[in-house]
Amino acid sequence: MSTNYFLILDFGSQYTQLIARRLREIGFYSEIKRFDLSVDEIKKLNPKGIILSGGPSSVYDHGSPQRELKKLSPIAPLLGVCYGMQLMALEWGGEVKGGTSGEYGHQTIHWKDSLHQNLLGGDQQKVWMSHGDSVVKVPPYFRVTAISDSGSIAAIESDRMMGLQFHAEVAHTEKGSEVLKYFAEKICRAQPDWKTGSMLEKIKVEVLAATSKGGNILCALSGGVDSTVLAQILTQTLGSERVHCMFVDHGLLRKNEAEEVLNIYKKLGLNIRLIKAEEKFLGALAGIDDPEKKRKTIGGLFIDVFKENVRAEWNIAYLAQGTLYPDVIESVSLHGTGVTIKSHHNVGGLPDILPFPLIEPLKFLFKDEVRNLGRELKIPDEFVGRHPFPGPGLAIRVLGAVDKKKLSILQEADAIYIRELKKHDLYHKIWQAMAILLPVRSVGVQGDGRTYSYVLALRAVTSQDGMTADWFDFPSQFLRQVSNQITNQVKDINRVVYDISSKPPSTIEWE
Ligand code: XMP
Repeated sequence: MSTNYFLILDFGSQYTQLIARRLREIGFYSEIKRFDLSVDEIKKLNPKGIILSGGPSSVYDHGSPQRELKKLSPIAPLLGVCYGMQLMALEWGGEVKGGTSGEYGHQTIHWKDSLHQNLLGGDQQKVWMSHGDSVVKVPPYFRVTAISDSGSIAAIESDRMMGLQFHAEVAHTEKGSEVLKYFAEKICRAQPDWKTGSMLEKIKVEVLAATSKGGNILCALSGGVDSTVLAQILTQTLGSERVHCMFVDHGLLRKNEAEEVLNIYKKLGLNIRLIKAEEKFLGALAGIDDPEKKRKTIGGLFIDVFKENVRAEWNIAYLAQGTLYPDVIESVSLHGTGVTIKSHHNVGGLPDILPFPLIEPLKFLFKDEVRNLGRELKIPDEFVGRHPFPGPGLAIRVLGAVDKKKLSILQEADAIYIRELKKHDLYHKIWQAMAILLPVRSVGVQGDGRTYSYVLALRAVTSQDGMTADWFDFPSQFLRQVSNQITNQVKDINRVVYDISSKPPSTIEWE
């Protein structure tokens, strides 16, 4: 258990989650809340430190997210990152210049005092900037602690406050974690005490409390790591008689995946039932080509299938889901009305009214934390290291309307791709790899004949948490080999392309 709690107030930055990640990595438990969380709520959380995230707005924009920071500073030390620092400077009487020109991308900054220089091993630091507004005059009682190469104020500090114009949380900032550690240890005087290991006991206690009124749990298994870890925790905590696991084979899984996963579930000793519902899902999806509609249809059907198959004698009182932290955050938008990028991740595809109250014990964890839990629970490494796979399965990798034929073309091609990745020792270097069947056909030539067949896209990305991602730079020999094998072995594909888009601006999945 952690005694330190760091609160991150989200002013809308795409990097807010990374602040939480970095803090946890260096041993400080942290959670993200909306920027306008009430002072009373904040006091109840008893934070050791409060971080004001960056955000896309200018502090001078009409309707930009703002709050009275002077009510927060008595509660705990404050760290303002980018937009957060600008708000801080304004509130305490400094000056912020609205963005006519800013700093974007890599910059070098110079720390002015020996304390920072010692911690960072020198006065220079390569950082990632992304700002239009700049602090041009520091408030009274603050001092400038770092200046950027282009002469702008890069960091400020007072006794209990710190402002960073750069994003210490992104991987492009060298030694960014050291800067966050400085805030946590030197300014907030906290000692690191968070590790995933602390989490297992905490989750078990929470599960016991959440289910203490009696009744049993229906745990939906997807074949992925998250739901498997969840089922294992529930089973260990409550016993297999109370935890009814249901694995719905919606026909949208990878080739042979249903049987493979089922065997693992059985080995783990889960109380598992396999429901074959391929026809139902494919029937409902027939002719639907809008990605959001596909997701919603699948989410709705999952619930229907659960309802149809639950038996009264199981005495089910809760539905358990392996929702993770990025799912929760990405599904909530800053202003409550903002844009939903994709209705997504376990949560978004489900209908509003569920037949049972939902319990989501993993919803404060990141993927790598769940993988660590999996290892602690002795789930085989081969399974824990599997690439993430979306709930709607291959339905969102057959672009446009899905049918049985297209699915089996994709399954064959995908199986070759994944097999080759493993053979070449590349699988574990990649966060996620997938084949995508495009809804276009192109002309080719095979043997002496002209073909008019499907185009397949391959995607492989590196990522830390699925929030941002970069395409994987394969040796060209590998791509050549996979492309040959796919076009030779899968009759309906005559062309293979490789996706070289990062996230953002693309997403990992194509739909
Ligand atoms: P995107 O495509 O948004 O995906 O960049 C980020 C990560 O989330 C996974 N993903 C899903 N997982 N249900 C899930 O359980 C979904 O509906 C869903 N959509 C995307 C995706 O595979 C990637 O790991």
